Order: sequence, then structure tokens, then C-alpha cells
Amino acid sequence: MRFSNEWSEGRIKSIKQVGETVRQFEIDIPAEVSFSAGSHINVEVYFKGHPEIRSYSLVGKPRRTSVLKIAVKLLPESKGGSAYMWTLEEGQKIRVSQPKNHFELTYGSSEYVLLAGGIGITPMVSMAEELLAKGENFRFVYAAQKRSDMPFSEDLNTLLGDRLQLFVQDEHGLVDIPALVNSMKKGSQLYVCGPMGMLEAAKLAWFQSALPAEDLRYETFGTTGLYPTVAFKVNLPRFNKTVEVSANQTLLDALEEEGIEVMYDCKRGECGLCQVDIIEYSGTIDHRDAFFSSEERACDKKLCACVSRVFEGELTLDTSYRG
Ligand code: FES
Repeated sequence: MRFSNEWSEGRIKSIKQVGETVRQFEIDIPAEVSFSAGSHINVEVYFKGHPEIRSYSLVGKPRRTSVLKIAVKLLPESKGGSAYMWTLEEGQKIRVSQPKNHFELTYGSSEYVLLAGGIGITPMVSMAEELLAKGENFRFVYAAQKRSDMPFSEDLNTLLGDRLQLFVQDEHGLVDIPALVNSMKKGSQLYVCGPMGMLEAAKLAWFQSALPAEDLRYETFGTTGLYPTVAFKVNLPRFNKTVEVSANQTLLDALEEEGIEVMYDCKRGECGLCQVDIIEYSGTIDHRDAFFSSEERACDKKLCACVSRVFEGELTLDTSYRG
């Protein structure tokens, strides 16, 4: 059960390879919409013939427009979203939602630090454009595994000059996130979008720095978890059912296929709407969300059904609908 969205039928205007594993899509939509920095749209994708929803950040200067730009990384463990997007061709129709923003810039800070990892660059481009246009004090740290897979780095370099620092893991190793956080003063904000390892490192460094918790903002693009992705069983005493979750399916998808309603929105482990109560489990819970605190995750009392799984075990859940 998903929150309602306003949808329209768009058409792929152009497709451009902007990195080794990243394609940029421009989508014409019937009427102009406005979007702010950090916004995303939902896109209808198809997986084994069934419609699914994926969220992609809007790239580019926030404005009123009838052409929406997103970038999609082809993920080796794609559950269908990126693989489907990569089958699209120019001229094809695609259903998209109105822009929404769960990752807004909050103004009034003495300094903004943007930290992007890999495809986490996408919302940061609009943030950098907006901060630059408003004359704000900011720095931008962009890290990726390979130089050949750093979309928008050249444009950002031209736009931002010295404000931009690029870290190529194959050449320089990992960004020193604790040092980055330590270089920040009270009154500044850190915005992070990237893989779970980057986010966890930023959270830990932030927590240890004693900077105000609300000044760390983040959005993630999923995680592959700490354990391999394998099939598992879920027992649902409330429905007197056992559901099999295959390796290429999320727990949320498996429950929905069985007609068991769970509230959800982001499907990225961020909003927490899809949380379900764990009655008991065997094996190891692989929490892949960015919603719960590490203490909450350690308790293993709840999990986010859109991303989290169990490794080498079974789950018994209470999925009571939370309106
Ligand atoms: S739907 Fe948002 S955390 Fe699962």
C-alpha cells in the first residue's frame, strides 16, 4: 500500500552514457513542474512483466521545467529497476510521478558540505547548483571507485572549481570521512548521499564529533547488506501463512504478492514506513536500512521490509497495517 502520487505519462527524450555504468535519461512530461534541490521522481518500471516503482533524484538546476533529468546506474544485483531502465530507448513512453523532496536543503548554515559517493552524486548536483546560485559557503566532496564512472564530474569541475574535491578510490583510496567531519565547525551542515558504508562512516564520525545530530542530513541509494542475498522463509501467524522470499525479491514484494498489505513509500530503507515487528527469528538479520539507529538495529525487534533480509534463517513477523 503506497502513498498516492500524481502520475503523468512521459516520453524518453534522450539517453546519454555519462559513466561506465551510468546512463542519463531526459524525460519529456506533458506539463511543466517545479522542483527543488534534492528532489526525486518515482518511475514505473517493469520486472517480470509486473509494474514496480523506483525513485530517482532529479539532476540539474532546480527550476520549472517540462523535461526531467535522471541518471541510473546499472547495478549487478538489480532487482529490476536499473536493468529495466537500461532497456529503454529514446521515444519510449514512461510513467513518472510529480517531483517530491525528502532531502531538502535547510538554509541558514555557516557552511554546507556535500558528500557524494558513486551514484549518490545525482541529488547533489542540484544542491550544488542551488547553493552556488544563492552565494552560500559550501564544499563538495565527490568519491567513486573509478574515474571512468564519475558522472557529471567534468561539469561540476567547471562549475565549482576549487570547491570540488574528487576522490577516486582506485587511485587515492577512501575519503577520510572522520577528517572531513573534524574539519567542520558547529553551525555547518553535512549532506551525504552514497552507499551504506559511506553513510555509516559519516554517522559514526558525526556522532563522535558532538556536532548537532540535526545538522547531518542524508539520503542513500540502497545497500547490498553485510551478508549475501539469499532466499528465506517468513512465517506470518496473523495470516496463518509462510511466505518464501526469493534471492531476487524483497521481503516487501513477497508480502505484497501474497496480498499482505504493508505501508511503504521510499523503498530505499529511509522513511521507515514499511517497518514490521519481528516476533522471532533464526540466523542473522541483515538490516539494510538507513532509518533505524544502530542501537535499534542491534535489538532486532523491527526491520524495514523494503530492504532488510535474513541470512541463513527464518523470520516470524507481525505485519499489522499501520495507517
Ligand atoms: S518504504 Fe521507506 S523504509 Fe521501506
